[in-house]
Amino acid sequence: MADLECCSYMLPLLTCCLFFIYTICYMITTSSRTSDDHLAPKSYPVIGCLVDFYRNRRRLLAWYTSLLAASPSQTIVVDRLGARRTVVTANPANVEHILKSNFVNYPKGKPFTDVLGDLLGGGIFNVDGDAWYAQRKLVSHEFSARVIRDTVGVALEREAAATLVPALDAASAGDGGMAVVDMQELLRQFAFNVVCRVALGGDGEMALAPLPLARLASAVIHDAVMVFVRRRRRNNNLASASGGGGLVARMSAAGYGDEAIRDAVVSFIMAGRDTTSSALTWFFWLMSRHRDVEAQILLDSSSSGATVLLHAALCETMRLYPPVAWDSKHAADDDTLPDGTRVRRGDRVTYFPYGMGRMESIWGTDAGEFRPARWMTSSSSPASEGVSPFKWPVFQGGPRTCLGKEMAFVQMKFVAAAVLRRFELRPVAAAEGSPPPEFVPLLTAHMAGGLKVTVRRRSQRRQNGTCGR
Ligand code: HEM
Repeated sequence: MADLECCSYMLPLLTCCLFFIYTICYMITTSSRTSDDHLAPKSYPVIGCLVDFYRNRRRLLAWYTSLLAASPSQTIVVDRLGARRTVVTANPANVEHILKSNFVNYPKGKPFTDVLGDLLGGGIFNVDGDAWYAQRKLVSHEFSARVIRDTVGVALEREAAATLVPALDAASAGDGGMAVVDMQELLRQFAFNVVCRVALGGDGEMALAPLPLARLASAVIHDAVMVFVRRRRRNNNLASASGGGGLVARMSAAGYGDEAIRDAVVSFIMAGRDTTSSALTWFFWLMSRHRDVEAQILLDSSSSGATVLLHAALCETMRLYPPVAWDSKHAADDDTLPDGTRVRRGDRVTYFPYGMGRMESIWGTDAGEFRPARWMTSSSSPASEGVSPFKWPVFQGGPRTCLGKEMAFVQMKFVAAAVLRRFELRPVAAAEGSPPPEFVPLLTAHMAGGLKVTVRRRSQRRQNGTCGR
């Protein structure tokens, strides 16, 4: 009897489910047009834009970009069954509103911090409100001009001499000059070693930097940083909080415990590990495609123009290939964006540097071309200074702007100059007309399959030029 009752409930339910699944499959298989030929994701009652989303799930970057370009205000709403309503925008006025004017309404939010809790704990990347503000104030001391000049400069010189240049030298000599190096991997290891030297100070480099990247699961980093922090505090090996002691000393003096210090250090390392190496990987690939720009950078290398052109080329690289391709906040309350888009409490609100870098409405009809000249407003000022961070939010903007922007430029210019001056890189798969490598937008973007190159030493005369930092 109970079985019969159960059947009478189950049968209609099952029929509904089957009908639902059939409808979705029908819509997926019968529609042959691409999804880019309408202004917003195609939506159906109940399931929203699930079908379009599913069809484009492996090309979300291109799909969002084309939808945003077609949208009258460069904003779309992605609402599908089973997922949070998401507003994606490439509209500079909206971006300014989210990141600055109404900053308090757009924290990262629990959905973000829950996902990254294991890796980042209570580090600056993963907290909002007062906890974020207090940490930002403390951490910002590590990004002063003095620290960048003294600590970062020394770390870069040492690391380049110890690993980067010898590795490329060896490749240029090996296999009759045909040895293949993965630049992406080399640059990631380099950036990791540098950020460890900066974050952990003198003896810190011994704690982490020698670990090969392949072994650097988050648990390994967590444990190694914890051991380091405990040892340093136990030995009372801390300089004064006002100067020179680094992040561990500063946080220790402010009364933070071991775990909070570990989380702050891990966030610092994560921030500096993959971002600059991602930008530099695409920069070197673009140089191999634009030998005229590379030649100009080398030609000007003894004048101040070199830094301006190099800076411009790096900005242009990150316009097309931003290390952080998209970034989301979660609305604390209902709101209306400047273009009229309604935001509901709990919505995910995503600003989209990758799409913004490709918007003709922002950059003109040649938005898809690599043209560093668009950044060269005058021959002496840094190229990105005059450009609104809400039009080019590669380093975010507003109160939560990337703290490491200056450090990142110093590092990228140093590496670009050190490599270009000494070596000529030839991508292995760079036949004329071949498609660009795939841009993979994880937490930090990377190049699918790495950047495999052969390396040739440049002539001595070229190397004697100086590529200023
Ligand atoms: C090309 C290189 C870089 C790019 C494109 C970049 C981009 C960004 C972006 C988009 C954010 C905001 C992320 C978010 O809130 O979810 C951010 C935050 C941050 N970045 Fe960078 N970054 C770069 C290099 C660095 C470096 C080298 C460091 C230092 C080690 C660094 C330290 C930080 C810190 C501490 C924050 C957190 C700021 C806060 O929440 O108040 N970044 N960065």
